[in-house]
Amino acid sequence: MAFCSQADPRQPIERAAAECFLTAASTGTTALPEAAVFRAPLPPIHPRISGQHEERERNVKALVADHLNGLDGLRLGDVATPALPAGEILVRMRFAGINPADWKTAEGYLKVIPHFRPHFPFVIGLEGAGTVATVGEGVTDFAPGDHVVLKSDVSQGRWGTFAECIAIEPRLAARLPRGLPLDAAASLPIAGLTAWHSLMLHGAMKPNETVFIHAGAGGVGSFAVQIAARAGAKVLASCSPANAEYLRARGAYKTFDYRDPDMATKIRAAGTCDVVVDAINDGQHGLIGCLASGGRYVTIPTLDPRAVRPDARKLAAVGATFVPGGLVRERTREGLETLIALYIDGLTLPELQVLPTDDFVEALSDCRSGTRRGKAVVRLWGEDKLAIASHGKALQ
Ligand SMILES: NC(=O)c1ccc[n+]([C@@H]2O[C@H](COP(=O)([O-])OP(=O)(O)OC[C@H]3O[C@@H](n4cnc5c(N)ncnc54)[C@H](OP(=O)(O)O)[C@@H]3O)[C@@H](O)[C@H]2O)c1
Repeated sequence: MAFCSQADPRQPIERAAAECFLTAASTGTTALPEAAVFRAPLPPIHPRISGQHEERERNVKALVADHLNGLDGLRLGDVATPALPAGEILVRMRFAGINPADWKTAEGYLKVIPHFRPHFPFVIGLEGAGTVATVGEGVTDFAPGDHVVLKSDVSQGRWGTFAECIAIEPRLAARLPRGLPLDAAASLPIAGLTAWHSLMLHGAMKPNETVFIHAGAGGVGSFAVQIAARAGAKVLASCSPANAEYLRARGAYKTFDYRDPDMATKIRAAGTCDVVVDAINDGQHGLIGCLASGGRYVTIPTLDPRAVRPDARKLAAVGATFVPGGLVRERTREGLETLIALYIDGLTLPELQVLPTDDFVEALSDCRSGTRRGKAVVRLWGEDKLAIASHGKALQ
């Protein structure tokens, strides 16, 4: 609560959801909070307004990828309005967050994924927030007008969020309470879900365990530090010395300079770790030696061909296991609802930089070079009048 001010748009009613998360985590009865604990009240579903929509086809604005061999394959242009299959929702996008995975997608890193078969022109973009424009046949849990935050399915070859609208499966979206800023919400999904999945699902973290977050000051790391600390873990993290105070303010018990060759020795002196979450994968620091017996070494896939997999024999020698971590599709809505609840409860986001669409490629380039501080979020075109099909009818 300490982070909430009177003027904060986060409303007290939704704090119950965050408290459920914290309570579940602190009882230690389950590593991952059950869906049942997220029964905190959400705003009522708005009445359907189907039949009021204009029905016609048109193109929508997007950051279009003509190839996935580099950022020079990206241009601002038009694509056909996405079809709306039964069981999906069409979302008018307002903001999209920029992540390292976006420039990696533009540079072709996803080609190693067997089921990633993009059709060109392609639309990249992993996360965002907007308003439900219409719902496909059979959808009952969303209605036009709902504010939603979502994660796209780009790794499956589906179009991403850098567009005026997107069709997605409802399980990849969560409803936002009215009043929650959409630009902040757009910055939650990828870093937040990756941190939550890696700690709770892959790392099976329990309260009172010791967790080491490698790259604690990054997008994923700063969520992981806060989520772990709020769930009752003792949090150790690596960062540049300049970010040490930043992480301590977010709940880290102790931080370590990742440029220090003796980092692992110093971590061990602070306590053996039950969970290591490694967002770097360079194998430089001998982090396996920091794990306790029964410990879990969770890697966040960087898609970098130079990434080093933890040595199985060394892990076995200390009685620890390797768990490939990162983003998964399972329990996405539950993860998003947890993040919304934590945000309302005071989770601190990186400093947001809201950019116009003209800065899209520059923002991706800055993300690649690591020169921009904080989190870039692009304001999309979704406030334009979007031609919307009537309820349940596909647009193309
Ligand atoms: N596949 C998935 O599911 C998935 C999902 C999300 C992210 N990822 C990947 O996870 C990685 C991290 O993502 P992110 O969004 O957190 O990136 P980010 O925001 O760009 O964070 C990078 C951080 O890494 C730190 N860092 C740089 N070199 C380091 C080193 N040698 N050792 C330790 N820390 C170092 C920096 O810390 P300082 O600022 O303190 O110097 C920086 O804050 C990326 O490779 C991303 O693609 C994968």
